[in-house]
Amino acid sequence: MKTLIITGGAGFIGSHVVRLFVNKYPEYRIINLDKLTYAGNLANLKDIEDKPNYKFVKMDICDFDAFYKLMQDEKVTGIIHLAAESHVDRSIKDPFTFAQTNVMGTLSLLQAAKLYWESLPEKYEGKRFYHISTDEVYGALEMTHPEGIPAPFTTKASTASHTVGGGTSAAHPAYGEKFFTEDLKYQPHSPYSASKASSDHFVRAFHDTYGLPTIVTNCSNNYGPYQFPEKLIPLFINNIRHRKPLPVYGKGENVRDWLYVEDHARAIDVIFHNGKIAETYNIGGFNEWKNIDIIKVVIQTVDRLLGRVKLETSETGETIETYPDMDLITYVTDRAGHDLRYAIDSRKLQRELGWEPSLQFEEGIERTVRWYLDNEAWMDNVTSGDYQKYYENMYANR
Ligand code: NAD
Ligand code: DAU
Repeated sequence: MKTLIITGGAGFIGSHVVRLFVNKYPEYRIINLDKLTYAGNLANLKDIEDKPNYKFVKMDICDFDAFYKLMQDEKVTGIIHLAAESHVDRSIKDPFTFAQTNVMGTLSLLQAAKLYWESLPEKYEGKRFYHISTDEVYGALEMTHPEGIPAPFTTKASTASHTVGGGTSAAHPAYGEKFFTEDLKYQPHSPYSASKASSDHFVRAFHDTYGLPTIVTNCSNNYGPYQFPEKLIPLFINNIRHRKPLPVYGKGENVRDWLYVEDHARAIDVIFHNGKIAETYNIGGFNEWKNIDIIKVVIQTVDRLLGRVKLETSETGETIETYPDMDLITYVTDRAGHDLRYAIDSRKLQRELGWEPSLQFEEGIERTVRWYLDNEAWMDNVTSGDYQKYYENMYANR
């Protein structure tokens, strides 16, 4: 029988991975191991918490002794490691916590897995240590084409129509000619990405030195339900709901490559089961957006769903829709060391394991905005208490 530990299962992506595995593999035992930091929330898993193949364990991944004992007690055969400090802005204010959790925590899991699995007669056979990382380890790509050029490849996730140079284009744009591929040199810039890069190196070192059966994947920006509202999309949806200013860093020209979170979870499933040991796979949907463009789409979607759209008559007598909450856009001081452009080349994963995103961006963003508006209680709960302090601290002097 397979017994898997999914670390960080109470967080954003982790909760989607836990849900997928618990529902899809009733014959596996799924242990969700999470410290429940500000970002961990068991309400994200209400729908599966009573399933017989699911168990929650509150634990810090840095606690080597407790983790080693858990592996022995539960006879763990696989680890999918998502637990991390994940927000770049927090890492700029408090890099130590990022080194502690992301580097030392990952090292503690690696060492415990190595010692436990090596002690078994079959050793590493049938075992897997799958580390979830980020595209940010590759650093930033240049924006050689700020006006946008048709992307050299697209997927189902690539948006159908997109604002390029002020107009709408049917061709999905790329904002440069280069993409992140698996063989690129690591060049992290933020304390967050430096800590993730370091943890990736430790994972590979454990394969190369001890033969630990590891896999690493590097994914682009995820969006979808249950994301903590410190990240761009849920933060802005919540601010629009309350008609609060939308703090756009710099000129809003930075580019991110957006993937619906359930498609990331599906990729993790495919790679956990069929990926090759010691390999790296990049995960992304070829779906580049400038921040300011995606922010406008979010405002339009929220205003439409909340019935705030106004109809006005243009000078030529046409009826046009206007979105009052566009006025909330507020340009603020840029993020220090702000990476300009991320764009993932995920063709290796498509070619070798047949994974493709399932959801087009238009549908994904509509679903996402609708989810946050339908789940006000979830949002109000996670934005109560310490959140107000966090918000003040992060945004008051920008
Ligand atoms: P998140 O911040 O929403 O969740 C992190 C989870 O880890 C929380 O449940 C938290 O309680 C838990 N955690 C934190 N420190 C812990 C510790 N010391 N011990 C045990 N649990 C701890 O993060 P996310 O956005 O879901 O990201 C999950 C993983 O995916 C991270 O490793 C992140 O680097 C990676 N990633 C995220 C994205 C993205 O767009 N969000 C993209 C690519 C990769
Ligand atoms: O690329 C993958 C990474 O994506 C993950 O590894 C990280 O865990 C995840 O947090 C995310 O990092 P980003 O820094 O890209 O995400 P964030 O949502 O913080 O910001 C997205 C973009 O929006 C970025 O260019 C900064 C900008 N931004 C963000 C916030 C929170 C703003 O302009 N204003 C804001 O208030």
